[in-house]
Amino acid sequence: MGKVAVLGIFVADAAFRADRMPVMGETILGNSFALGPGGKGSNQAVAAAKMGAEVAFISALGADAFAQMARDMWTKAGVTPVIREIADSYTGAAFIYVDEASGDNAIIVSPGAAGLVGPQDIERARADIESAAVFMTQLEQPMDAAMEGLRVARAAGVTTLLNPAPAAELSREMLALCDYITPNETETEAIAGVAVTDAESAKTACAALKDMGVGVPIITMGAQGVYLDGHGMIPAINAGKVVETTGAGDAFNGGFAAALAEGKSAREAAQFGCVVAGISVTRPGAASSMPTRAEVGALL
Ligand code: RIB
Ligand code: NA
Repeated sequence: MGKVAVLGIFVADAAFRADRMPVMGETILGNSFALGPGGKGSNQAVAAAKMGAEVAFISALGADAFAQMARDMWTKAGVTPVIREIADSYTGAAFIYVDEASGDNAIIVSPGAAGLVGPQDIERARADIESAAVFMTQLEQPMDAAMEGLRVARAAGVTTLLNPAPAAELSREMLALCDYITPNETETEAIAGVAVTDAESAKTACAALKDMGVGVPIITMGAQGVYLDGHGMIPAINAGKVVETTGAGDAFNGGFAAALAEGKSAREAAQFGCVVAGISVTRPGAASSMPTRAEVGALL
């Protein structure tokens, strides 16, 4: 069992299923609604914990009903919260449009209190980061917190993993602190300026990312699977009908981090992450759709 420290945000996901998106000024009837736990970092933390990792989750929450939802859910999943409570802010939320036919989504996320996380929160969590096998973060909380987290982890010899979502341009300084980076196609283009559509273009993008200082790039490519630098395409698995893809990238990252923390190779860890993600898309919700270790084991 390996230790994983995750910096990121929790938000409540308000997911609306409908046949199409409304246009500006229009009201349409949706097919269903669900409120559940989300936020990329928290989803990744939950996925890693369900895979058996010992997980510390570094973030901030408001003092409200959504914060309670987060705490209850982490207790159930076995995630240890390393949380600053900011009573005069609020726990964030995400508006999620889920396309009924494809299960694909479009998201607006407002981080609330977690948007105030900064380098002081890394200082507060220093012991959790330094004692971890893997440190993982994303870009939903402020960039300076991510930078500081990566710096502290790197200085302590902890393996660093950046899931650069949502898409942003990144400094070379930041990229050089990443042992692994896991952008999807859009995020890859934002960072490296290379459009990714297939294995060939993914290989070109990986070379560009390595030139920018990244250790090992892994490009997540949805239904195609992931392109692991030096190994090529690792295909996605088909675990049934796709119901909702929200959190699929998080499932991959959480599974990948947990497997790395256990001492698995990058290739084994990527295969493991693909199975976690493949199961998650057959279920509604983000954190709620993460499988158990036994379910993953059955499909590996
Ligand atoms: O990666 C999926 C997540 O992104 C959702 O849970 C939503 O909260 C957004 O942060
Ligand atoms: Na899902």
